[in-house]
Amino acid sequence: VRVVTTHRLMEMKAKGEKIAMLTAYDYSMARILDAAGIDVLLVGDSASNVMAGHKSTVPITLDQMIYHAQSVVRAVKRALVVVDLPFGTYQGNSKEALASAIRIMKESEADAVKMEGGAEVIESVQRILSAGIPVMGHLGLTPQSIHKFGTYTVRAREKEEADKLIQDAHLLEVAGCFSVVLEKIPAALATQVASELKIPIIGIGAGNGVDGQVLVSHDMMGITHEFSPRFLRRYLNLFEEMKEATEAYIKDVKSRDFPNENEQY
Ligand code: KIV
Ligand code: NA
Repeated sequence: VRVVTTHRLMEMKAKGEKIAMLTAYDYSMARILDAAGIDVLLVGDSASNVMAGHKSTVPITLDQMIYHAQSVVRAVKRALVVVDLPFGTYQGNSKEALASAIRIMKESEADAVKMEGGAEVIESVQRILSAGIPVMGHLGLTPQSIHKFGTYTVRAREKEEADKLIQDAHLLEVAGCFSVVLEKIPAALATQVASELKIPIIGIGAGNGVDGQVLVSHDMMGITHEFSPRFLRRYLNLFEEMKEATEAYIKDVKSRDFPNENEQY
């Protein structure tokens, strides 16, 4: 059990203290983010895009998620570590869902799992929770359903979808989820959900009326640079800085400047 627990996140919401969450997929990045004092690290299936270069989160496998989770857990002393159940490992079969969640918990020693969807996956959510595994929900833009949505635009702008999202959020809370992520929905809707629920609501592209924020660390650090949605605040432009560093190294090697006398034995 790490310093930040699911219980602690509930206390933070009760006190109005905002929760800061970022993704991590590897040991070195997780060490930096944990040392900075991040509350929650998400081993997101966005690793499919960011680490593996796929166009969606659909292809990443449970074995690959476990590898990323193990690498992150080895680095972390303080943050709560949440791992995404990848596409195809929990939808439609609660027994398989539980087996997938147990593999993540046993093989990586992470603290919790996250899964996308509401009513459609509630049996799987309940079964995992009844095994004593904490679950974080994820509603709104759920990237594992991209082939159903067809686009990555804002979700739940229409009343019907907004009403279903509110119902799903309550369903997840009643089931026993410790938190829910809301992705890319109108700020007013996210604010309403956060005020109706006792569990902390973490937003990404969901405005400032929720209990915490999550970003993909490679996006906020500017390692990725093709992707610029409105909700993304970039704190660094590492793509350019790392490219320039690489160019400088290449130049030094080619010009025989590197290594110099102090850099050899
Ligand atoms: O996989 C991921 O990075 C996520 C966050 C965007 C919430 O699910
Ligand atoms: Na995800």
